Amino acid sequence: EKVVLAYSGGLDTSIIIPWLKENYNFEIIAVCVDVGQGDDMDKVKEKAIKTGASKVYIEDVKKEFVENYLYKAIKAGAVYEGKYLLGTPLARPLMSEKLVEIAHKEGAKYICHGCTGKGNDQVRFEVCIAALDPDIKVIAPWRMWNIKSREDAIDYAKSKGVDVPVTKEKIYSRDENLWHVSHEGGDIEDLTKEHNQDIYFRVTPPEKAKDKPTYVDIYFENGIPKKINGQSLSPIDIIKTANKIASENGIGVVDLLENRLVGMKSRGIYETPGGTLLLAAHKELEHLNLDRWTFHYKQLISQKYSELIYDGLWFSQLREAIDAFIDKTQEVVTGKVKLKLYKGNIMVAGIDSTFGLYREDISSFGNSDDYDHKDSEGFITLYGLPFKIKGMINKKNGG
Ligand code: ARG
Ligand code: SIN
Repeated sequence: EKVVLAYSGGLDTSIIIPWLKENYNFEIIAVCVDVGQGDDMDKVKEKAIKTGASKVYIEDVKKEFVENYLYKAIKAGAVYEGKYLLGTPLARPLMSEKLVEIAHKEGAKYICHGCTGKGNDQVRFEVCIAALDPDIKVIAPWRMWNIKSREDAIDYAKSKGVDVPVTKEKIYSRDENLWHVSHEGGDIEDLTKEHNQDIYFRVTPPEKAKDKPTYVDIYFENGIPKKINGQSLSPIDIIKTANKIASENGIGVVDLLENRLVGMKSRGIYETPGGTLLLAAHKELEHLNLDRWTFHYKQLISQKYSELIYDGLWFSQLREAIDAFIDKTQEVVTGKVKLKLYKGNIMVAGIDSTFGLYREDISSFGNSDDYDHKDSEGFITLYGLPFKIKGMINKKNGG
């Protein structure tokens, strides 16, 4: 029998290999999905084999991650609980897809993951896997074994001869990809304390960022970022370039006490520099190009969409239906946005689009051919009529 293991090379997934060997008679196929976590994949491969995997797949899905997931998140303006740009849940469906694909190729009936029984990720992986192949059985060691903490995990690793480079990073639980880095656990769990900026992987703390503002131009076509500062960039390079510019200016850190799907609240520190920049620019363009009703309706949809993604429901009818709505709105989201970045702040410094609905001649304080001040009078009379009637009745009743 074969099992496909979602493998990262980190502590949690590394100890699963000896544990599987101890408890099952499986041949272990380790799969590391490269979503831009920036690890040395040769080392990851080597480690998996050394730890006891019989085969390792390294699946580079970065381009697909940007085109099929991050672009959708940008177009949707997907932000969970007003703060979280969803870096982890956006990657899980794609990882699940690769795991299932390899399970099929290898004839494996089992997929094993290293998520704990207290988090969202277990739900996301398992719901996605079930949607893609309901016959696959999932093994979740964190819900089975006696290892209860990261300290126990380190002891177990040592007893099995698995290397654990004990660095200070290891106290935190992290997840990294092209879009974000998440940090959870350790001293982050104490809500009474400001988080320590030393944990950052990408973003320069605003206090230490450049003393001069940076201007950046972002050009979108149908809601998708295509150029930065006039230069056409590949999907991966758009994200990398946005990450670099935003990071240097202290942009994109969020400290969020979030509601997890599994009931508890938990605190996470997220670095999403490029995402923060791209979403900000995209929103400015929508302010200009979407009419009032569409803009407001999209805000509601966007919140629902972020919940679906967070909750692991990527492979749902509703997600696809919402994407169709969003794509319709993005037909006019083409144009250029200039932003000014300064020590963690983003300010708009110019928007330009041929689809823009702003007409200076109409909106300006003076008179214009298409707007007559006198028209407002009748409008207000009808618009206010129900309230006037209510007022008259209240008055009659002595209210
Ligand atoms: N709490 C965040 C989320 O649910 C981050 C999860 C990070 N995952 C991890 N395995 N470290 O999306
Ligand atoms: C985990 O518990 O495995 C990571 C955190 C999460 O899934 O929310």
